[in-house]
Amino acid sequence: MRKIDLRSDTVTKPTPAMRQAMAEAPVGDDVFGEDPTVNELQERIATLCGKEAALFVPSGTMSNQIAINAHTQPGDEVICEYGCHIFNYEGGGAALLSGAQLHPLPGARGVITAEQIKAAIRPADHHYAHTRLIELENTHNRAGGAIFPLDEIRRIRALADEFNLVMHLDGARLWNAHIATHISMQEWAAPFDSISLCFSKGLGTPLGSILVGSSEFIDRAHRYRKVYGGGMRQVGVIAAAALYALDFHLERLADDHRRAHQLALKLVDCGAHVDLDATQTNIVIADFLKSGKSAAEINDELKTQGVLALPVSASRIRFVTHLNVDDESIAHAIRVLEDVLR
Ligand SMILES: Cc1ncc(COP(=O)(O)O)c(C=O)c1O
Repeated sequence: MRKIDLRSDTVTKPTPAMRQAMAEAPVGDDVFGEDPTVNELQERIATLCGKEAALFVPSGTMSNQIAINAHTQPGDEVICEYGCHIFNYEGGGAALLSGAQLHPLPGARGVITAEQIKAAIRPADHHYAHTRLIELENTHNRAGGAIFPLDEIRRIRALADEFNLVMHLDGARLWNAHIATHISMQEWAAPFDSISLCFSKGLGTPLGSILVGSSEFIDRAHRYRKVYGGGMRQVGVIAAAALYALDFHLERLADDHRRAHQLALKLVDCGAHVDLDATQTNIVIADFLKSGKSAAEINDELKTQGVLALPVSASRIRFVTHLNVDDESIAHAIRVLEDVLR
């Protein structure tokens, strides 16, 4: 039976050409700063984002957690959105590793406004935690890959400047926002003091993320990477996969977006509720409340026909398009959905 895995864009397998690039990569000891492929990747990403420096790290979680630690002191507060990754899916890392307190605000499609943030900034009074960092996520995973509007980000930056706050972006899927909007990575990155980008999602590498910012920030981040056990040695074999992905897997994200949109329309056609305005990139979240079946039941039926997806609540299922899902796979997944839902 044909199997189509729409659970996440992290399930992709490196292609033969990517494996070839990995096999041929020149390497050195990156803890000594001597891996030429890692250095090339760091320089390329820093330039792409218009920042001074970058640091290659094993995962998006480590990248975000290093950023939080490098930007805050224990007892500081981090303003973020309620559905964001750092609040929901990083094991309480901000508290555990940085002694930071998260202050999540309710967002609309993952977006919080400058006005909301202004109201949440703590007054200078010893009763309160010290507001220090604003963290945003773009695209927003739990909001179905929705894009955070750049004009709102710029308004938040103006607020951050006024209140002497720093800003970090969880840009695990910023690539998708860049391709969907044609806004450059540099423009997206400009309002932030630091940005975390993942290669292991839409770009399809087996692992690897990168943290970008000023030289001074990256120097501090370097220490935390070491402390967290994230110092790697001949890791150019992995950086080579990222360099390959930048050349060959970035522009193709537009195909993932087109296929996700196609899937979303079909799900609506079959009676599910999908926020089509939020379905702007490669993630589709469908609500099956009206079907009379639970998300788990529908998911099991899809699974028996080889279509894997991810229930995210009692009634909602997430579908993600990626490198290993082509037009034929989508057509097949749609046939299975029709069969299960009609
Ligand atoms: C928005 C977002 N940030 C961070 C991460 C963490 O990445 P990793 O799994 O590499 O730790 C993920 C993972 O899916 C994510 O979706």
